[in-house]
Amino acid sequence: MKTRESGMPDETMWSGFFSPAQTLAKLGLTGSCSDVVDFGCGYGTFTIPAARIVRGTVHAQDIEADMVEMTAGKAREEGLINVRVERRDFVADGTGLPYGSVDYVMLFNILHCEKPEVLLREAWRILSLGGRLGIMHWNYNPTTPRGPSMDIRPRPEQCREWSEQVGFQLALPEEIDLPPYHYGWVLEKR
Ligand SMILES: C[S@@+](CC[C@H](N)C(=O)[O-])C[C@H]1O[C@@H](n2cnc3c(N)ncnc32)[C@H](O)[C@@H]1O
Repeated sequence: MKTRESGMPDETMWSGFFSPAQTLAKLGLTGSCSDVVDFGCGYGTFTIPAARIVRGTVHAQDIEADMVEMTAGKAREEGLINVRVERRDFVADGTGLPYGSVDYVMLFNILHCEKPEVLLREAWRILSLGGRLGIMHWNYNPTTPRGPSMDIRPRPEQCREWSEQVGFQLALPEEIDLPPYHYGWVLEKR
């Protein structure tokens, strides 16, 4: 089932909200990362820059066929052979990836879903020991130009607490500011 309020505006507007390379650097995605999963890749806003950085495969999953096609098309155009795009409902069916098989998970703009713990548990399952979870979400501020309704928008401390409840520990001690509209956390499976 598609998670609540996870529709996207047009791509020009969406991409204007982010500086993907800087965001990924701040969230600890480096060239030493091997396999990565992008939960709900959307337009591939972060999939494609991540694939340019890491030495492994970026698994990009989304429930929407047009998002999957757009992300796959961008990877093809850029000649990125390390992107594996899949149309998949990861809430109902998980990622389908083996236990402990990846070393970075991106949960970007998705934790306002009905059951964030389902995604966090799946992230925990597929990450290797020492693997990292990057979370990004809209600031808890009603003036942001997009973002989920305030009644379902998670506060930064909620994202952190939910992650800790499934076993993650903070890899970077502070909440990360991702201006102009987002915050982030980096956590680790120890
Ligand atoms: C708000 S967008 C965020 C896209 C991307 N993570 C980003 O930050 O640019 C959420 C994405 O999750 C996808 N999605 C929602 N529910 C899903 C599900 N159950 N399984 C897979 N993808 C889902 C939507 O189709 C959408 O592309």
